[in-house]
Amino acid sequence: MKILVVGGGGREHAVIRKLKENPKAEQIFALPGNGGIARDATCVPIGAKDIPAIVDFALREKIDYAVVTPDDPLVLGCVDALEEKGIPCFGPRANAAIIEGSKVFAKGLMKKYGIPTARFETFDRLEDALRYLETAPLPTVIKADGLALGKGVLIAQTRQEARQAVIDMMQGGKFGKSGEHVVIEEFLEGPEVSVLAFTDGKTIVPMVSSMDHKRALDGDQGLNTGGMGTVAPNPYYTPDVAEACMERIFLPTVAAMNAEGRPFKGCLYFGLMLTRDGPKVIEYNCRFGDPETQVVLPLLESDLLEIMQAVTEERLSEVPVRFSEKNACCVILASRGYPQAYEKGYPLQIPEEIRDRVYVAGAALKDGQLVTAGGRVVGCTAVADTLPQAIEEAYRLADHVHFENRFYRRDIGARALLAVREG
Ligand code: AMP
Ligand code: GLY
Repeated sequence: MKILVVGGGGREHAVIRKLKENPKAEQIFALPGNGGIARDATCVPIGAKDIPAIVDFALREKIDYAVVTPDDPLVLGCVDALEEKGIPCFGPRANAAIIEGSKVFAKGLMKKYGIPTARFETFDRLEDALRYLETAPLPTVIKADGLALGKGVLIAQTRQEARQAVIDMMQGGKFGKSGEHVVIEEFLEGPEVSVLAFTDGKTIVPMVSSMDHKRALDGDQGLNTGGMGTVAPNPYYTPDVAEACMERIFLPTVAAMNAEGRPFKGCLYFGLMLTRDGPKVIEYNCRFGDPETQVVLPLLESDLLEIMQAVTEERLSEVPVRFSEKNACCVILASRGYPQAYEKGYPLQIPEEIRDRVYVAGAALKDGQLVTAGGRVVGCTAVADTLPQAIEEAYRLADHVHFENRFYRRDIGARALLAVREG
């Protein structure tokens, strides 16, 4: 089989490694991939958003199966375009990817179908948003409607901060079209859990839970990033919580999307907060999370290609989806300055013995040498019997990967460890 994977980050590296375990995956192309992925797949310099070029390539190469993982191409209709040409795909069509593409849509869906989430109001006129903020409870959470690389969310502690945020979004064009509509919602508290789930629109099968570390600095300080590290499973996600989520959130979401005529097929990501009033949805993503995927897929014991094809063919209930009982930890090595400006182009040293144990996110090949090329550079993932062992081993891997402006959090997994100890 010839398989095409759209994207080029650590998540795609993890997906490709897992797909390769199936001998049927004879040839894998990554569009565009990256310098590290080039070890596991044939990288082709076509951008993940260049849908016409992706479709041309797929037809020219007679691709048998396509996997689309990043948000942008999904929201832009990459799966629709490939399917129109008869190429089977893993990933939702644009009319379902809107669950991530528009927060106004996602919040409206949850309200209409009674899926627990933070109370909210949506605004498309600045005056209305400002008037609402005069009496809104603080802190308050302000979100730009569309995709904003995880940066479209602001938690305002004061009225002045909240006012400035909506002015920036709705008037300042800080997030382009994405900020023309805003959601203002209730601030929730509690541990956060990420749950990725396979769904074919009929069946939903959650994967092992995980915990992301979104802030740039230790102790959850600094700016929000795409994610600085993950552990799986998430100790807060007990069997009781899992059952409540299935009943009140996962199944109702699949049913709601069907009822709206937007059946969701692919990986649906639930960003959950375990509040005192039970689990609530913070956000949906229409795709695998990154770096969640870098701890979840290494724990998958079943065959990823088989599962993905079963999702496409709407027979997910017929295939095994088993996860190991072990623990995984992923520590992201980033370029100093990320998520703001950072330097790149530094030589990246990964010893040969661990090349197959790390996922490369932001690196390019220059004259045969890997050089840094992004904010998040390498994901160091370890799998072990216990959480402390997985954390220790992930940091040991991190110690062996070098580049000039390397920067990482030292406390990935610390909160999860506390939860384990407190039981
Ligand atoms: P999002 O892009 O929607 O995932 O938001 C980014 C981060 O902001 C989340 O991971 C939460 O930590 C935080 N956040 C978002 N919405 C809320 C909320 N309603 N209450 C508290 N924290 C929130
Ligand atoms: N790590 C969060 C995300 O992928 O959106």
